[in-house]
Amino acid sequence: MKIPEGKLGVLLPGLGAVATTFIAGVLAIKKGIGKPIGSITQMQTIRLGKRTEKRTPPIKDFIPLADLKDLVFGGWDIFKDDCYESARKAGVLDINLLEELKPELEKIKPMRAVFDRSYVRNLDGDFIKSGHKWKLAAKLIGDIRRFKKKNKCERLVMIWCGSTEVYMKQHKVHNSIKNFEDALKKDSKFISPSMIYAYAAIKEGIPYANGAPNLSADIPALVELSKITKTPIAGKDFKTGQTLLKTIIAPGLKARMLGLRGWFSTNILGNRDGEVLDDPMSFKTKEKSKLSVLDYILQPHLYPELYGKIYHKVRINYYPPSGDNKEAWDNLDVFGWLGYPMQIKIDFLCRDSILAAPIVLDLVLFLDLAKRAKLGGIQEWLSFYFKSPQTAKGLYPEHDLFIQLTKLKNTLRWMMGEELITHLGREYYDT
Ligand SMILES: NC(=O)c1ccc[n+]([C@@H]2O[C@H](COP(=O)([O-])OP(=O)(O)OC[C@H]3O[C@@H](n4cnc5c(N)ncnc54)[C@H](O)[C@@H]3O)[C@@H](O)[C@H]2O)c1
Repeated sequence: MKIPEGKLGVLLPGLGAVATTFIAGVLAIKKGIGKPIGSITQMQTIRLGKRTEKRTPPIKDFIPLADLKDLVFGGWDIFKDDCYESARKAGVLDINLLEELKPELEKIKPMRAVFDRSYVRNLDGDFIKSGHKWKLAAKLIGDIRRFKKKNKCERLVMIWCGSTEVYMKQHKVHNSIKNFEDALKKDSKFISPSMIYAYAAIKEGIPYANGAPNLSADIPALVELSKITKTPIAGKDFKTGQTLLKTIIAPGLKARMLGLRGWFSTNILGNRDGEVLDDPMSFKTKEKSKLSVLDYILQPHLYPELYGKIYHKVRINYYPPSGDNKEAWDNLDVFGWLGYPMQIKIDFLCRDSILAAPIVLDLVLFLDLAKRAKLGGIQEWLSFYFKSPQTAKGLYPEHDLFIQLTKLKNTLRWMMGEELITHLGREYYDT
């Protein structure tokens, strides 16, 4: 595969805390005033061949990824604030850093959003497009084409960084692209704004990932379209604070065959995301995403004595003084030999957007890679980055972070014609 040439446009529906922390971060890294900590594409190495070969290049030297200097940013929001103003209000990054990046950040202004309050009830903004849904999709496609031309981009990628929409179940209008397009024309209430962005991107052959838990591209109609237009898609819901730790700890408990009776997780956060999630209907979407993890990792149907009766509870508490600095508090009731009980307590004082920004960067670069490698449809190898990985119909998702990382790295080896690593290692002893 060739080194990509030309500009890569990064389109972000939702220029809030995560998106601006990502953009400002990339600008800071390019200037040499920050390091891309937490990014696999920028920092991690990959072992190639046998351990005795001592080949462990950085991933970015092994596969042809776009260079950070070629990224250009754009997006949509329901508020008119440019990226400097939005980052300042989000309060994640230090004001001195933002001042240094101000000339570039204030040039990134949102385009008018496709938005409807019935899908995000705790938000209200007036920088929005008008018209019925079919027309809105056409307007988004117009925005995308104009952005590409104006910024002289060779390629584009879109990552949903917008607010979490209310909980929706799959409906028959989502079953095929024909039904979906008919429903767009009929302005159906079963099509949410995030689905319209996803439709516009996939129709244009632009890789699309969903950082929030709402369905968006995770419906048969858009999967079908992604295969037709050979567009890579991935989702859902960035795996950052509490769920990241859950998918690190739960595989460890299971590996040691330690039992679990209960896992209580509570989050205290005060950013706009927290305010949106204060609405029970948006919380329900998030709750589903956060709850599914343990069942898949612990497989209670295979280990009923250890994991058959887990009480798993997840709460999100909106508390404005916390801002973006979330407190994720967990209590685990575990048991060991002869059933003796033990407890694990975790208090993760994390920063949501600081954890999410490198995920956005990696998804941008890997989805662009997937597109150039002609991999259309669902990219399960990117499930490492998501709380509710999108998978093929009927296939359960892998949530274990270490299985996900092995899968990601083996996919990179496979793309580059390198031997896959199984960790069998008999060859070191058989000679
Ligand atoms: N930060 C994390 O660690 C994390 C982890 C997992 C998922 N997420 C999800 O990522 C998303 C972004 O998080 P955030 O902290 O940046 O939230 P945020 O509230 O700061 O930003 C979201 C932005 O999206 C805008 N928006 C809402 N609907 C829109 C629409 N239809 N079109 C265009 N813009 C729209 C809002 O005005 C807001 O500016 C949320 O859905 C959140 O649940 C975040």
